[in-house]
Amino acid sequence: MLEKIKALSTEIENYLISSKEDLENYRLAFTSRNGILSQLFEEFKTVANDQKKVLGAEINKLKQLAEGKFLMHKEIIDAQEENNDTNKKDLTLPVIPNQLGSRHPLSLTRSRIIQIFERIGFNVSEGPEIEDDWHNFTALNFPENHPAREMQDTFFINKNPDILLRTHTSTVQVRLMGRQKPPIRSIMPGRVYRNEAISARAHCLFHQVEGLYIDKDVSFSDLKNTLYYFVKEMFGKDIEIRFRPSFFPFTEPSAEMDITCLICKGEGCNVCKQSGWVEIGGAGMVDPNVLKANNINPEEYTGFAFGMGIERMTMLKYQIKDLRLFTENDVRFLRQFSGVV
Ligand code: PHE
Repeated sequence: MLEKIKALSTEIENYLISSKEDLENYRLAFTSRNGILSQLFEEFKTVANDQKKVLGAEINKLKQLAEGKFLMHKEIIDAQEENNDTNKKDLTLPVIPNQLGSRHPLSLTRSRIIQIFERIGFNVSEGPEIEDDWHNFTALNFPENHPAREMQDTFFINKNPDILLRTHTSTVQVRLMGRQKPPIRSIMPGRVYRNEAISARAHCLFHQVEGLYIDKDVSFSDLKNTLYYFVKEMFGKDIEIRFRPSFFPFTEPSAEMDITCLICKGEGCNVCKQSGWVEIGGAGMVDPNVLKANNINPEEYTGFAFGMGIERMTMLKYQIKDLRLFTENDVRFLRQFSGVV
């Protein structure tokens, strides 16, 4: 029997398989249910017990050889067939176009803002979205239990009211003052959270870009000029900016900023409630208390800060009427920004 196994093993090794038919013949001869291998296993049952161990091992080796060869050639032949198939395809047919994605309108506005401010020497700073009371309030001159804290409906963490979701990116100003000596000239774009009912005009998460400039002799006219330049670059040369007195705990004096309504160009329409102006954010001179709390000497340095809504600016620029569109991921909306850079 050993002789027979050896002979079969040479036969298998030398068997030429070059087509689908060859492969089938090979299978029928060796590995199929009625093939030689099955017969051999039948014969094996009658072998004397003391020879079973040696012969058994040999037969198994033969089986592996036979099946291995079958699988290898099957793979080669299948691959050849597949190739033949592609050769038959009509290569002159037009291609199915690749669906290209597009940038999210908020990212478009964000990069445009960064581009404009980088040209006048502002770098970009970032910070965490989960913050503590110090960075969101205390270091920004919000006194303990002061009603100003309620201007911003804050999400607190129940188990530890010291931890919260930042309500503005002014937190990054605090982080920046903590790690860098003046001069500081930076903008902070980022996501912020407020506990507000979701509507066409408000969301519990949105994006802001804040700016901070601290150096010797920084004045309110620097603030005005910077924002004047920004608005013209962002919205066009014929857009005007105006400042209205306001209040923020961290700036003194403080102002709210309006720009010419982009829809009616100042004529008066529904969007601007017939006023010709729309609000884009707040600004002011950094309060000396904030500088002190952040170890900067207010006798030596002054600074300005501003904060604007990225959603608001995007809505004005592209005339989007509902803020919820930004987070719904409806491709019919998003696709309209493909090709916009
Ligand atoms: N942090 C303010 C807000 O979120 C905006 C602001 C920033 C106002 C800087 C003045 C100066 O409402």
